[in-house]
Amino acid sequence: MSQPNEHLMLALDVDSGLKAVEWVKRLKPFISWYKVGSRLFLAEGPHIIDHIHKSGGKVFLDLKFYDIPNTVAQAGVEASRMGVEMFNVHALGGIEMMKACREACADFSIQQHVPLPRILAVTLLTSHSKIMVEKEMGLPGPLLLHSIRLARMAKEAGLDGIITSALELPVMKKEFGSDWRYIVPGIRPSWSDHNDQKRVETPQEAMAQGADFLVIGRPILTAQNPEETVQKIILEISPKIV
Ligand code: C5P
Repeated sequence: MSQPNEHLMLALDVDSGLKAVEWVKRLKPFISWYKVGSRLFLAEGPHIIDHIHKSGGKVFLDLKFYDIPNTVAQAGVEASRMGVEMFNVHALGGIEMMKACREACADFSIQQHVPLPRILAVTLLTSHSKIMVEKEMGLPGPLLLHSIRLARMAKEAGLDGIITSALELPVMKKEFGSDWRYIVPGIRPSWSDHNDQKRVETPQEAMAQGADFLVIGRPILTAQNPEETVQKIILEISPKIV
């Protein structure tokens, strides 16, 4: 293996920086990207980003910003200052919020000569049910239509792509094309446990449908031999990488 895989993202769903860094060091020959969610970020603090970078990983900061435009713009600038390669916001925050964030990060990147992180949008959460969206949010109609509408807002705001379920990926890809980025969680190799994920796809299927990044946590974190598991996944998706 010459290069770590650019399409796999390990979800660092662990409770300490020590464990997270151990995973990065262990798997960096195979995986380039590491997702830091609120649990790890809150348990360890912002220096976890630095540790991951120093251990050789790229960071997707999964904090799903959602607030007034100015606050999200400032949060985006702080994420840029930390040097994360990617972070996300909720499309539900609106076009103005997403645009403000994108523009503030772009200005900061130019002024400080730092790379501009990719900014991704979360549409609906997979935990949102049709009944909940209708009754609690007051949005009737199919969930997919709401997801497409939210994704369209993200595109209009100039964001770089979306986090999307494997189930919605083909429709999103058709709607928004290949020059956008599609990050897909809920991935389960055919041989692994589904855990609490209801709608899953195999790495091979998701890549075949045009995913750019596969977010995988437990199938790797709880594997008896994580290195072997990752290599099996890489082997499985290799023919699908163009
Ligand atoms: O362990 P598992 O592979 O299920 O982890 C998937 C990761 O992707 C978790 O960090 C989870 O929070 C995240 N995620 C998800 N479904 C979404 C969005 C994010 O599973 N729709």
